[in-house]
Amino acid sequence: MPIIFGKAPGKIILFGEHAVVHGRPAIAIPVSNVAATARIIPIIDAQPGIVHLEAPDIELNADLDSLPDDHPLATAVRMTLDAVSPGHIPSLRCQITSTIPISAGMGSGAAVTVATVRALSSFLGASLSDAEISDIAFNVEKIHHGTPSGIDNTVIAYQQPVYYQQHQPIQIIKVNRPTCWVIGDTGERVSTKTTVADVHARHQADPAGIDSIFDAIGEITDRARQALIDGDLDELGPLLNENQRLLRELGVSSEKLEILIRAAREAGAAGAKLSGGGRGGNMIALASQENSSNIETALWKAGAARVITTTLRETVP
Ligand code: PMV
Repeated sequence: MPIIFGKAPGKIILFGEHAVVHGRPAIAIPVSNVAATARIIPIIDAQPGIVHLEAPDIELNADLDSLPDDHPLATAVRMTLDAVSPGHIPSLRCQITSTIPISAGMGSGAAVTVATVRALSSFLGASLSDAEISDIAFNVEKIHHGTPSGIDNTVIAYQQPVYYQQHQPIQIIKVNRPTCWVIGDTGERVSTKTTVADVHARHQADPAGIDSIFDAIGEITDRARQALIDGDLDELGPLLNENQRLLRELGVSSEKLEILIRAAREAGAAGAKLSGGGRGGNMIALASQENSSNIETALWKAGAARVITTTLRETVP
């Protein structure tokens, strides 16, 4: 039996985070510069049915049977076994590694799940659809987040830019002109569960006020969709900046995010905002092909812990 690999990219949210948890649309794109990888290695000469999980990044080295019901990776594996329902499970080791920063708004949890489900299902001879894989990852995201919107598992499982709204069919965005995105990491780590809970509390305290912010973010996202298809920097830049202003009003920015966002704008970015849960993690800046390296340098100088540049390429017809 050969060794089988499964891979999944990271992601960034371009528009609509937090509002998407409350029913408004959001746009996210995959980032293939970083990835989670799962490797399934058959254990020869062992009794069948042993599933051993190894994920050094989270210090996991255990048999599936010994892990609790609410363990995210164990849940991913158990749900995959249920979905595939193999007649018998050959003994195997599942090794998971990732270059996606954890708790930084780049979807590391969802990517680890998607990579694991892909590798395990194909090892067992089944090919699950992107929708089935996304569904398993959504269930695992609930353990990480509590009330995920579903955007992370969707963009990562489909590996395409998506316009996403809860309880609506997934819309893949077909891009006509490329755009270049510089991603700056504050190095600060705050769990998305915390920021989502804080926004939820604000919403409960002032439903009308916070709903009007969510509505404004939803309108920005709708306008941004066509601008992204057209690669229209003049239109996208101000929309990013306005989305950032609204996220700041929601209380999910941070001093370090603001420093990096300002540095990117001063270095010529068309627009910049935080991306993901906020209060830390990553910010994104929209660059032209000409000024992306200036923006990278400015972010490093402003104290970024890591800088990644990714291009959203035009969709191949
Ligand atoms: O921090 P991330 O990458 O998990 O992104 C969170 C995005 C939120 O809208 C804040 C939460 C969600 O579930 O959509």
